[in-house]
Amino acid sequence: MCGIVGFVGRKPCAPVLLEGLSRLEYRGYDSAGIAVIENNNIVVKKTKGELKTLINLLDKGSNFKSEIGIGHTRWATHGKPSNENAHPHKSMNGKFVVVHNGIIENYASLKENLINEGYVFSSETDTEVVAALLEKLYNGNFFETVSKVLDVIEGSYALGIICADFPDEFYAVRKASPLIVGLSDEGNMIASDIPAILPLTNKIYYLNDNEIIKMTADEVEIFDVNGNKLQREVTEIKWDVSAAEKGGYKHFMIKEIMEQPKALKDTIEPRIKDGKINFEDIDFSDEFLKNIDCIHIVACGSAYHVGVVGKYIIEDLARKPVYVEIASEFRYSNPLVTDKSLVIVISQSGETADTLEALKIAKSKGAKILSIVNVVGSSIANISDNVLYTWAGPEISVATTKAYSTQLSLIYLVALYISEKIGTIDSDFVAEKIKEIEKIPGYIEEILKLAPEIEQMAKRYAYLEHAYFIGRNFDYAIALEASLKLKEISYIHSEAYAAGELKHGTISLIEEGTFVVGLACNKDLFKKTMSNVEEVKARGAEVMLITSENMDVSESMVDTVIRIPDCDKLITPSLEVVPMQLLGYYIALARNCNIDKPKNLAKSVTVE
Ligand code: F6R
Repeated sequence: MCGIVGFVGRKPCAPVLLEGLSRLEYRGYDSAGIAVIENNNIVVKKTKGELKTLINLLDKGSNFKSEIGIGHTRWATHGKPSNENAHPHKSMNGKFVVVHNGIIENYASLKENLINEGYVFSSETDTEVVAALLEKLYNGNFFETVSKVLDVIEGSYALGIICADFPDEFYAVRKASPLIVGLSDEGNMIASDIPAILPLTNKIYYLNDNEIIKMTADEVEIFDVNGNKLQREVTEIKWDVSAAEKGGYKHFMIKEIMEQPKALKDTIEPRIKDGKINFEDIDFSDEFLKNIDCIHIVACGSAYHVGVVGKYIIEDLARKPVYVEIASEFRYSNPLVTDKSLVIVISQSGETADTLEALKIAKSKGAKILSIVNVVGSSIANISDNVLYTWAGPEISVATTKAYSTQLSLIYLVALYISEKIGTIDSDFVAEKIKEIEKIPGYIEEILKLAPEIEQMAKRYAYLEHAYFIGRNFDYAIALEASLKLKEISYIHSEAYAAGELKHGTISLIEEGTFVVGLACNKDLFKKTMSNVEEVKARGAEVMLITSENMDVSESMVDTVIRIPDCDKLITPSLEVVPMQLLGYYIALARNCNIDKPKNLAKSVTVE
């Protein structure tokens, strides 16, 4: 989704803006632009296509002296990718210029009125309406004008605004779209995400919805919509610039796959103390947890797949019904949620529009919300009753890997925590499982050593057109994730099926050479899944099997086998997913795909 940066300070802003935008490229975009104030005039430079085109066009920003400016990478929502629709958008009189992430939901009626009043638009975007309103409502007072525009617009927005009449002042607002402020002696900066700010500073302000930010080179002030000044604590970001760089790897995705042992250690360790679960971050009463009527797990994409694993585990341990739901469906389904329900929301970015809206709906029905989130201070974290952060660090590759794995580790701990409170398992059982959970990083270190072998296998599958992933129970949940990983980065058509369901239709697609990955790590169901593998093999499928070290596999039944260490059933999904991430990565590599930024995808999906 769109990325925003803005700077006002004591040095030329253009290089800061361009560097910031390059660190937001991971969000996905189709055009880029910047605007600066030079000699009291607003200058806009923007272009369709890759950011490097803009950077070359501007000679890395070296031609501008201006110390105030805004920048944007656009992911098209209203109007196709084009030079005209690229941000920033100037008002007709040239006084104001705006960058925007989000959607102005009432833009059509606002635009119609403005056209009737004689305003001429030069783009198809919803954003240009904001620029037009700033011009229309301008009374000489920058703050009041911004406030008046906010009274009129509806929807979600992070906005960066500058005005030619105020070459030292910068305004920004945030409502349901990410935005943070960076504070430094050289100047102050806004951005959609931390990596953009890190080259300047690690001191930031997190912002809340409906806050207005006024920045100068020396000061940042935060106001509510009524103009009351708000206090904010400075947060120091612990990770440095290199955490958001490739560090010698070819792609962020493989770097992030390799970082999983550390990310898991950082996520698991603080939650375990003296062999017990230490959830300082959770304050649901024991009474609430004992009397939960049901649990809903709500998320999108890979985070939803974590929920599918969670359903199997929580139902097994807690003996409570668990409904795992895609957020975009949940929000329009009149969900059966009560004040006795626990809703677990899972999101790496903490900004996914559908997940955020689903959370709000569940909350309005009285449910308690526990979120599992990677980005501190994100919208989902801000409005949840309790938050468990995944300490995965910045995840830049669009396809999630380390965030997924850390979410999974927290789901195990949540399952144990709730089940012990409910009384379906005792503390000895929890202590035993905790020991297993602590072993996950070490096991994954071992599995990562398979990377060269999987790379070789991947070459053999690089020219496939279709792939099928089959498994039962949590093997099925991992099949869903494995299939998504492969298709989103390699563009190979791929589907995941519950292994027993294949013969109810899909098996008709299996023919000589069809690629089928059988996931059979759940020992309880090994034989059942292997029967389904035999069914596809009998129809000529090329079969890859993922199973545990000790399982007995007849060589005639499969073409290739990947084995994971033999481990406790609870943590098996964490081990099983890693070779699948590697497989997806290496197949996409062999196909020469744009792995970190697959076409049409965005990292943080802030539109519904
Ligand atoms: C796939 C992937 C997406 C995200 C989904 C939810 O590799 O990354 O499917 O899992 O867009 O995003 P978050 O977790 O930010 O809510």
